Amino acid sequence: GDTTTTADVTTLTPGTASGFPPFEYVNESGDLVGFDVDLLSAVVEQTDGYELGSWEDLAFDQLIVALDNGNIDVAAAAMTINPDRDETIDFTDPYYDANQAVLVREGGSFRPENKEDLADRPIGAQAGTTGKDQMDSLVEDGTISSSQTNTYENYVLAVQDLANGNIDAVIVDTPVAETFVANRNVVVSFTIETGEQYGFGVRENASDLQSALNEGLQAVRDDGTYADLTEQYFAS
Ligand code: ARG
Repeated sequence: GDTTTTADVTTLTPGTASGFPPFEYVNESGDLVGFDVDLLSAVVEQTDGYELGSWEDLAFDQLIVALDNGNIDVAAAAMTINPDRDETIDFTDPYYDANQAVLVREGGSFRPENKEDLADRPIGAQAGTTGKDQMDSLVEDGTISSSQTNTYENYVLAVQDLANGNIDAVIVDTPVAETFVANRNVVVSFTIETGEQYGFGVRENASDLQSALNEGLQAVRDDGTYADLTEQYFAS
């Protein structure tokens, strides 16, 4: 996007990948909303030199590319901080913890308790995610064949395919799994403890922005905004 500098304020173009409730989703009015959207807005408000421009809603696996080529300046997409991604972009301090959940149909008899129970089952995950990494590792260890992996543009489509019976499980971040459980006919069958932490992504060497966002994160934790937002989006 356009990183326009007026007076002393830099306008940042934020990027996300909707279809990941409650972190980022499009509501009934067609507006992009969610925990990440509100959190990043609050964080940037705490900074002196930055303001947020309008959001770019992209495919999750395009966010790092979009940061790299300057189409966005911050990725706020429940993005797990990991060494692979850290080679290309930089992250703020962590702002949320997650593991991976294995979702199955609510009414069905299939209730896997561990990875081995997924043997020879068609499963799904979103392209470019750590859930997709888990699915790939099931292929590597021979639990499923690569023809049983199904990759989706977003998790809403994956959960629809699960509900339809086209696949038997979806691997997705635990907080998002809970939201699908509350709103769709799916249940969490077991969880994989991955110990993930989300951070906002910025271009490498954007250290001024990175530290401004880290200070903003600390400020919204200190003033209670962070607690209010977790209450709003995660209290059920
Ligand atoms: N935390 C996972 C990852 O970093 C999934 C993130 C998906 N985010 C999204 N907005 N669709 O790979």
